[in-house]
Amino acid sequence: MFSKKSTLSLASALLLTGTLLSPLTASAAPAATVAAPDIPVANVQAHLTNLQSIATANSGNRAHGRPGYRASIDYVKAKLDAVGFQTSLQQFTSSGATGWNLIADWPGGDPNNILMLGGHLDSVTAGPGINDNGTGSSGILEVALTVAAQQFQPAKHLRFGWWGAEELGLVGSTFYVNSLSSTEKAKIKTYLNFDMTGSPNPGYFVYAGASQPSGSVAVQQMLVDYYTSIGVQTELTEVGGRSDHAAFARAGIATGGTFAGAEVVKTAAQAAKWGGTSGVAFDRCYHRSCDTIDNVNVAALDRNTDAIAHALWTLAQGTPPPTGPKFENTADVTIPDLTTVESPITVSGVTGNAPAALAVGVDITHTYRGDLVIDLVAPDGTAFRLKSSGSDSGDDVVATYTVNASGEVANGVWKLRVQDVARQDTGRINGWSLQF
Ligand code: PHE
Ligand code: ZN
Ligand code: ZN
Ligand code: CA
Repeated sequence: MFSKKSTLSLASALLLTGTLLSPLTASAAPAATVAAPDIPVANVQAHLTNLQSIATANSGNRAHGRPGYRASIDYVKAKLDAVGFQTSLQQFTSSGATGWNLIADWPGGDPNNILMLGGHLDSVTAGPGINDNGTGSSGILEVALTVAAQQFQPAKHLRFGWWGAEELGLVGSTFYVNSLSSTEKAKIKTYLNFDMTGSPNPGYFVYAGASQPSGSVAVQQMLVDYYTSIGVQTELTEVGGRSDHAAFARAGIATGGTFAGAEVVKTAAQAAKWGGTSGVAFDRCYHRSCDTIDNVNVAALDRNTDAIAHALWTLAQGTPPPTGPKFENTADVTIPDLTTVESPITVSGVTGNAPAALAVGVDITHTYRGDLVIDLVAPDGTAFRLKSSGSDSGDDVVATYTVNASGEVANGVWKLRVQDVARQDTGRINGWSLQF
């Protein structure tokens, strides 16, 4: 069972899927979207081999202030320049040494609606840093090269970042975010981070949206749904301030990401669902000289890189914002311990079915939100799971969930069903809304 003190929690295997068949209506047909390509893992491995060679030729590391870092930056930049990215190096100083961030913009898309992906390119001085973070760096690079190969032209503008001096305390990514004016910050709508995506004894962790200052539950859900679609169970991780999304989250930018695990030891339950070895760290070469080209689980690298591509293709094409009426119930409903409560909203005057992106606003006060299971119940009784219970020790739930409700008739009584499934903590529904 769940421990309230654990930092990891089981993500629900239940999905927020409606029917796969969209109703044929004259209006609001979504624009055709392009499916994400499968990224050949061999291409990612080739980048890792090159990063290993760079480390080997430069005293065995690619650390901030060392020649192996500059060579890593030059390698990634040359690949991007060759296929039409607009690249720039951002220079900074840390611990008396010069460092660089590499920023790459893919021409096109809405300049006021930017999707950004990034990861750190530096290693620790102890080793070549192939899992940490050659894997995330190379996966993002190969996805960017695929954007170019396909001449993908999504609605949003795409930007990529490779950060310096993460290992000295998130220095490069923090420098980048601080260098942006508030206007430029506001243009970045989502930042996705990938750090350690090929751990040799892998776990499949998705950044918990509710655990960041501005983490995105929608991004979390999209990534969890992707893994579920390929038959891989996930756990949520409260990655906190441990990687480069942190500065973006503090700036109010929606963040998310995936992670295959570092120094923490895999439990028996985790080995049962993911394979690998219980009682051994996800990456026992974490921050060590043995973090070499041999320190990578190819299946995890493959899945995580495909997840990067899926996330980019999904988010970049966007979902048109809802334009229909909004319904609200602001009556307080007490949530007693170990009890199920419901709050109704009567929808009327909406023709046809609910939208594929029904926005469900939830405002709940609670002393331990891990106790809560939340469902949206359609007029015909179909339940859409918004949130599962788990060991998330945060308190309130203030979030907007997106539900594909296109299989449901809009008019009728919808309910927010909230179950408190663990003893001790209690709360209250302050209100909730449906935006059609
Ligand atoms: N950022 C950590 C490092 O580079 C690794 C890490 C990533 C830890 C994500 C936790 C979550 O050492
Ligand atoms: Zn590290
Ligand atoms: Zn790292
Ligand atoms: Ca409780």
